[in-house]
Amino acid sequence: MDDSNSFPISRRDLLVAGASSIASTAVPPAAAQASAGEAPVLARVTLQVNGTPRTVEVDTRTTLLDALREHMHLTGTKKGCDQGQCGACTVLVNGRRIVSCLSLAVMNQGAQVTTIEGLGTPKALHPMQAAFIKHDGYQCGYCTPGQICSAIGVLDEIKRGVPSHAAADITAQPQLTGAELRERMSGNICRCGAYSNIAEAIVEVAGGKA
Ligand code: FES
Ligand code: FES
Repeated sequence: MDDSNSFPISRRDLLVAGASSIASTAVPPAAAQASAGEAPVLARVTLQVNGTPRTVEVDTRTTLLDALREHMHLTGTKKGCDQGQCGACTVLVNGRRIVSCLSLAVMNQGAQVTTIEGLGTPKALHPMQAAFIKHDGYQCGYCTPGQICSAIGVLDEIKRGVPSHAAADITAQPQLTGAELRERMSGNICRCGAYSNIAEAIVEVAGGKA
């Protein structure tokens, strides 16, 4: 049955419509939030990123994650959920781990930011990077930069005596028990399920027996 008259759209029309729809969604994240006719408020932000001062002009609604990835082109830090749920975007700010998708770039003016690119080099890996490789602590690798930054933050928290929800006595010096490790790394999701290998890597760096 020829139904061309009841559905009068050509293949070319369809391709043009598809291309327009893709173009309309391919906009920078902060700009995507702007309402029509509302001019973005811009701010100059200087961060010490991996030991180097970096100044960018960003929409004040730009997250630290987008400032790193879209403005500084440091794409090692990954965007998973963009809602603080997965930990893929974890970086170290002034030595403490944060999810960079929940922090505005302007809130970090002057801060020391360490991303996965600043931890080590292929020839001189950070011990946590080397341990992840040794213990096969990844499969696709998408969560790995966040896992490594978070793991470094966890060991530092334990060293500084910061209690977690798993602590029976919050006044006691925390130890790297299985419960502590699970609790402290619970914000870093690995869809590939490399958890046991990740745990082995962290325990080894902490000086324990994996
Ligand atoms: Fe930031 Fe998922 S992208 S927590
Ligand atoms: Fe694939 Fe963790 S290694 S999500």
